Amino acid sequence: MQSNLSSKLNARLHVGIIMDGNGRWATRRGLSRLRGHEAGVEAIRRVVEAAPDQGVGTLTLYAFSSDNWRRPPAEVSGLMALLRSYLDKEIDSLARNGVRLTVIGRRDRLPGGLAQAIGDAETTTAAGDALHLRIAIDYSARDAILNAAVKAAGTADLTREKLAQLITGEAGLRDVDLVIRTSGEKRLSDFLLWESAYAELHFTDRMWPEFCADDLAEALSSFHRRERRFGGLRAIASADVPSL
Ligand code: FPP
Repeated sequence: MQSNLSSKLNARLHVGIIMDGNGRWATRRGLSRLRGHEAGVEAIRRVVEAAPDQGVGTLTLYAFSSDNWRRPPAEVSGLMALLRSYLDKEIDSLARNGVRLTVIGRRDRLPGGLAQAIGDAETTTAAGDALHLRIAIDYSARDAILNAAVKAAGTADLTREKLAQLITGEAGLRDVDLVIRTSGEKRLSDFLLWESAYAELHFTDRMWPEFCADDLAEALSSFHRRERRFGGLRAIASADVPSL
């Protein structure tokens, strides 16, 4: 059973964004890669503000993949510090604006205090019903599926719904409608592989630090022009998207 909160959010679109291009944007300007990630945080603010008015109920942002630990230690620790300061600075304004924040991915490898700050932010914003903002940190879709399979092993009456709940961490999450990737790259990079089974894909050359409300609107406008059939022969309206 879905709560009223999640059914209100689930009536609107679920958009996932692979925020790519921070490093190249910065390097081309003679700036440090970290400066690119800082500019990326500004883009997150713009998109989170614009999303509810553009029909988005759930927004999942790929902030740090489990493979990103392979980056130089200074970049990793800079990214972790940015995540922490985003939570510290934004949480009150997210709560005021009805944004419910949750984080997906592993928390046991995060540096001191970050996991606690995430838990606090989730509690503070739990009642938000204007937008569900999900941030993927130390996230790997394959690991999420693997962990769910391990938990489900031996369950005789396993269904798609039950497995989906184990993979996504919550009951009744709407499948992803649209995946956007910036910076001209055209890959999924281990992002929401289960949830995006029928997602439309939108690739743009825009670098993430320059992404703005108009870019989101353009991606959604291209999405709304597509005919989604979910394997059938008839176009299906977004309000009637079949679940699992
Ligand atoms: C990909 O660009 C971007 C990342 C790996 C990090 C994304 C992080 C942020 C936007 C800021 C922190 C997030 C939050 C939620 C506060 P890249 O570095 O791979 O760019 P490149 O391909 O040009 O090198």
